[in-house]
Amino acid sequence: MDEKNQKSAPESFARTGEAIVNQQSLMKIAIIGSGTMGCGIAQVAATAGCEVKIYDTNLDALAKSKSNLENTLSKLVEKTKIDEHEKSRIENNISYAHTLGELSHSDIVIEAIVENLDIKRNLFSELENYVSPETILATNTSSLSIASIAASCKKSERVIGIHFFNPAPLMQLVEIIPAVQTSEATLKTSIQTITNWKKIVAVVKDTPGFIVNRVARPYYSESLRIYEEGVADFATIDWSLKTIGGFRMGPFELMDFIGNDVNYAVTESVFTAFYFDSRFKPSFTQKRLTEAGFFGKKSGKGFYDYNQQAITTSTVERPTEDLFLAQTIFNRVIVMLINEAADALFLNIASAKDIDNAMTKGVNYPKGLLSWADELGIQWCVEKLDSLYNEYHEDRYRCSVLLRRMAKDKKTFFDL
Ligand code: NAI
Repeated sequence: MDEKNQKSAPESFARTGEAIVNQQSLMKIAIIGSGTMGCGIAQVAATAGCEVKIYDTNLDALAKSKSNLENTLSKLVEKTKIDEHEKSRIENNISYAHTLGELSHSDIVIEAIVENLDIKRNLFSELENYVSPETILATNTSSLSIASIAASCKKSERVIGIHFFNPAPLMQLVEIIPAVQTSEATLKTSIQTITNWKKIVAVVKDTPGFIVNRVARPYYSESLRIYEEGVADFATIDWSLKTIGGFRMGPFELMDFIGNDVNYAVTESVFTAFYFDSRFKPSFTQKRLTEAGFFGKKSGKGFYDYNQQAITTSTVERPTEDLFLAQTIFNRVIVMLINEAADALFLNIASAKDIDNAMTKGVNYPKGLLSWADELGIQWCVEKLDSLYNEYHEDRYRCSVLLRRMAKDKKTFFDL
């Protein structure tokens, strides 16, 4: 745990936290925002036996979330993952609220509304008028500062980031982000609750992109750079990372799947939040696709063409299956990913175990990056990064001090 969270919480609050931990299944959870994330988080909490209330300012969205949940649970019954009894139990645990006042008895409120700091701050400040002084207020933001959201509350020690991944019922990882204001009791109860919901928790410092959205950036940015330099085309880069690295999706397939608009916006916001550190620099190739409306799968065109005619004719790009080229591409991308993971550890963003768990459970990487570094050799990683730096003389290729020190001392991240 980092120093900022070592301060003791007000006693009454600490006692409340303990009481909540001991009655997990009876917990009352409020979800604000009934979109993709709110609906998924509600399903997770209700499945764990909590009493869940969902609130949304948009009544159509609220009604839609009810029918979406019904459909999702019916599909699970069809696939025999759950039975009718379990479906009813989950549905009966969920109710729908039309006013914030109806959330007044909540133990934890999880906000999953639009990603806008002012709107979130207004909501948190208003919420304090309705909930009890002990209620924990959590945000599912993926890019905003938890400290700035907490600052909108009088009792800011009750605010924390609880960041689920999409789809929430399927993704095992949840990042928990205490702000500088967050009390130990809030953190402890949040970890206990999410663990009881059968999720894997990674505790992360309140820094841009938390773990996953920070450490994963080179998967996209270095691949884009390799393409822009003319080293290989999209299909070849995707094939290389899947064949040599065992990644389930290549970077271009993945960007098309996430949506270039969404992926580019995250890259740009992380770059800006890191005071324009060139390691996080966005790419013009992706910017232009976004400007053109080539968002990827959802718009029918992105790095690849998804219209049926292109798929059924030979216009679909085929990779150049050259193993030597593939290894060169993989080496460059993997050392940049490892460098980012090592630097996150060096700056105490999270523990080595949490950084590795985050990438395997949050974005399904085949291995944790720090374990991968041990396997490839720390000295090998340093040499590869130094050779890139010597060739380009660009700051983005600077090797993390931690890797360099570890290579010198012949250390590994984990016991081999
Ligand atoms: P969404 O657009 O699907 O749903 C947002 C919902 O919030 C809408 O139904 C809207 O009517 C409602 N809403 C907006 N303002 C409100 C207010 N003031 N009070 C009550 N309800 C309000 O959004 P999505 O994708 O579910 O994202 C929600 C949050 O989760 C955002 O902060 C996002 O950054 C974060 N997130 C999103 C992920 C994703 O893959 N979609 C992954 C992880 C986090």
